[in-house]
Amino acid sequence: MFAVFASASSSDDPLSALTLGERPAPDVPEGWARVRLRAASLNHHDLWSLRGVGLPADRLPMILGCDGAGIDDDGNEVVVHAVIPSDGWSGDETLDPGRTLLSEKHQGTFADEVVVPRRNLVPKPAELSFEEAACLPTAWLTAYRMLFTRSGLAPGSTVLVQGAGGGVATALVALGSAAGYRMWVTSRDEAKAAKALELGADRGFASGERLPERVDGVMETVGQATWSHSVKSLKPGGVIVTCGATSGDAPPAELTRVFFLQLRVVGSTMGTREELERLMRLCAVTGVRPLVDQVLPLEQARDGFARMLDSDVFGKVVFTRS
Ligand SMILES: NC(=O)c1ccc[n+]([C@@H]2O[C@H](COP(=O)([O-])OP(=O)(O)OC[C@H]3O[C@@H](n4cnc5c(N)ncnc54)[C@H](OP(=O)(O)O)[C@@H]3O)[C@@H](O)[C@H]2O)c1
Repeated sequence: MFAVFASASSSDDPLSALTLGERPAPDVPEGWARVRLRAASLNHHDLWSLRGVGLPADRLPMILGCDGAGIDDDGNEVVVHAVIPSDGWSGDETLDPGRTLLSEKHQGTFADEVVVPRRNLVPKPAELSFEEAACLPTAWLTAYRMLFTRSGLAPGSTVLVQGAGGGVATALVALGSAAGYRMWVTSRDEAKAAKALELGADRGFASGERLPERVDGVMETVGQATWSHSVKSLKPGGVIVTCGATSGDAPPAELTRVFFLQLRVVGSTMGTREELERLMRLCAVTGVRPLVDQVLPLEQARDGFARMLDSDVFGKVVFTRS
């Protein structure tokens, strides 16, 4: 079958590790299910994989893609939950030390077919297109859990999102504003900050700009480049929820501010199947939809990877199969 896969890894030139071509169609193990993919979306995770982060050489070649939506063997329209728990795990799968994301151990969604444990199939609401639904399982689910499960912040709180253009960042702005939070964003690019206002953000600022007042919470995906601004932007008792470190993961911790102002630093990773179901219901009832920057046939996936590498994306890049 046709697939987009990592055939090598390169930390300096991730696109050199990307191959488009034929891979064997998957067998379906007992208790697993096959999905014929209609749409899949790109995440920064796919670039990390090409750089060799989280994807050791002994697992190559590996079909990339965490997110997908399509049709199962019984003809149902389904979304694929990307967190694969270890055998026998019960409870919150994001806390399973043996969990993996699709494309880390098991082949991913940038292909004609993917196989996943049957429990990882979630019915696609009719209100969402395949393209929209395929944006939800990683970036949108991560944003949902950061804001609604992990932050402890109630609607009405002021929340700063660092890096307006990202997949997780645009999801945070759309979900937060729909749920009654006052969402502020930063971006290195004035045009991206302006676009975030159209998505529902209340204010946009240049990266690192001093805010007019301190905020209750900061949602961090950028890491090193914005960390100090995040720490300085919080009210006493405020919370930083971090799920990523695109620009580096070792900024100074600024511990004095953390303890003196009694800040909370909270990690967050992906979400559970139940959270994905609630996220889809939220989209169906509120009318909130993932912001799709570009839809490309899977054969043109390389263009989408290149744009993400250049930070030239606002929202999600979606690959389709007909
Ligand atoms: N833990 C998890 O479960 C989980 C889930 C999803 C994502 N993540 C991680 O979260 C991060 C974001 O993922 P994504 O898919 O949303 O990626 P993305 O779409 O590529 O977004 C990255 C955004 O970060 C900002 N940014 C990048 N480099 C920057 C820099 N040097 N300085 C300031 N801002 C910078 C950019 O915002 P502007 O261009 O607007 O400034 C960009 O739009 C990735 O590192 C990813 O691995 C983790």
